Amino acid sequence: MREWLDDALFYEIYPQSFKDTNGDGIGDLKGIAEKLDYIKELGCNAIWINPCFDSPFVDAGYDVRDYYQVAPRYGTNEDLKHVFEEAHRRQMHVLLDLVPGHTSTECEWFKQSALPEKNRYTDRYIWTDKVWNAPQGIGNITGWLRGGYDREGACALNFFTAQTALNYGFYNKDEGCDWEQDMNDPGPLSTREEIKNIMRFWLSMGADGFRVDMAASLVKNDPESKGTIALWQDIRAFLDREYPEASLVSEWGDPARSLTAGFNMDFLLHFGPSHYPDLFRTDHPFFRKDGQGDLTDFWRIYNENYRKASKLHSLICIPSGNHDMIRMARFLDPDEMKIAFAFLLSMPGVPFIYYGDELGMRYVDVPHSVEGGYERTGSRSPMQWDKTVNAGFSTAAPDRLYIRQDTENMSVINAESEKQDPDSIYSEVARLIALRKEHEALHNWSTFRLISDSYPLIYERSGCTEDLIVAINPTAENRSFEGISAGEVIYSTFGKTLKKEEGIITLPPQSAFYLRKE
Ligand code: NOJ
Ligand code: CA
Repeated sequence: MREWLDDALFYEIYPQSFKDTNGDGIGDLKGIAEKLDYIKELGCNAIWINPCFDSPFVDAGYDVRDYYQVAPRYGTNEDLKHVFEEAHRRQMHVLLDLVPGHTSTECEWFKQSALPEKNRYTDRYIWTDKVWNAPQGIGNITGWLRGGYDREGACALNFFTAQTALNYGFYNKDEGCDWEQDMNDPGPLSTREEIKNIMRFWLSMGADGFRVDMAASLVKNDPESKGTIALWQDIRAFLDREYPEASLVSEWGDPARSLTAGFNMDFLLHFGPSHYPDLFRTDHPFFRKDGQGDLTDFWRIYNENYRKASKLHSLICIPSGNHDMIRMARFLDPDEMKIAFAFLLSMPGVPFIYYGDELGMRYVDVPHSVEGGYERTGSRSPMQWDKTVNAGFSTAAPDRLYIRQDTENMSVINAESEKQDPDSIYSEVARLIALRKEHEALHNWSTFRLISDSYPLIYERSGCTEDLIVAINPTAENRSFEGISAGEVIYSTFGKTLKKEEGIITLPPQSAFYLRKE
């Protein structure tokens, strides 16, 4: 079951910015199909596509208007089916982005729900009894939409004002409150069934599963996520019956909960308890050469979650970044990034590479927010393919592109140039992926044991046929460690050499090694 996760390595595509094939300045599904070979050649065998459904794009598509329809600007449902087919022909898998927590206020369900007359969508959203009643501090409710509709009541929000929360019920209900519904009331149950139908629709067309947006947010006033966990267990059971191969990765950021809920994978995120930012994105990221990073909290939580994940036979995903985070290249220089990738691609679980991170694409300073991106906008600029106009992304006039490109750097930072340069970030990432595939000890399920949690960072990866040691020194100085029996070097960054003397290994400045265990 879901065996394809055993060697999955994901590439995240923000469809707006990947490849435009009709010259309108916005990426599209035909563009994705066209570039599958590029992704495959890099070594990734699975993709996650951010929402590509009909939407007014107030939040880049995380405000869905019609869950059953591809957004016309990206193409048609047939085009998406074609992406599935082309991916499968290359032994690749495709996850769509499911947004179950909220819809756009332009969604037909919401329009019906906002009508004063009772209808089948009346309870699809969470409405209070009076427009004046908008209680603060209810877990998982970010605010209220008040006024503008003839229906009495305020409607709960899940994110921005245009993203009204779907109704899955409350875990802790206020006594005497008659508008908070139980998880098993007919309204919440019909919302849940509709989400299953959406999943059926795309899975039967060829999707391989979903990345689930804000997976923790569904049941309200649910401080320990007990209700939300039960809800997802029910959805996983439905999938196991009807689509056992389908995989789910949660945007939850708390594997202890999400993996219990039945998700096959959970991402570490820039928010939540994981301390993920300490790796690549704090004032002192661990992988910066100043050597000021501190992963104590990261490892404490990771180790605990790793044990839980292994018991549940599920996986923790470390992403290079995503469409919500500031790009890694804003915090780390190219050499630091290569070492960061030597870590990311030798850890257990499923690695995720955000489009363009394999090139070291920069965070772009943009004049204003695009489609609800705000500070995220600069991480969403169009992919840099080559040295031609608009870096090969589109034939549109540059001022018509979805987001401004990194015009200062794109003649150097682009896929074509970097492929030809053995010293580029691209070439390093491709090499590291090839090694991960070649060595069983580096595979997704092979075991992990932390040996040294700071500088140098040292861990062991073990499969059935081999044991490897990963030793990483991101700092600008030599770092030594006593007490491991390191053998043959199978990889080193920048061709650096490791010193071994009487049981002490010394790593030169800015180096990462994969070694056989002796
Ligand atoms: C998380 C998504 O990744 C983000 O881009 C979006 O704005 C929010 N969820 C709301 O759906
Ligand atoms: Ca287009």
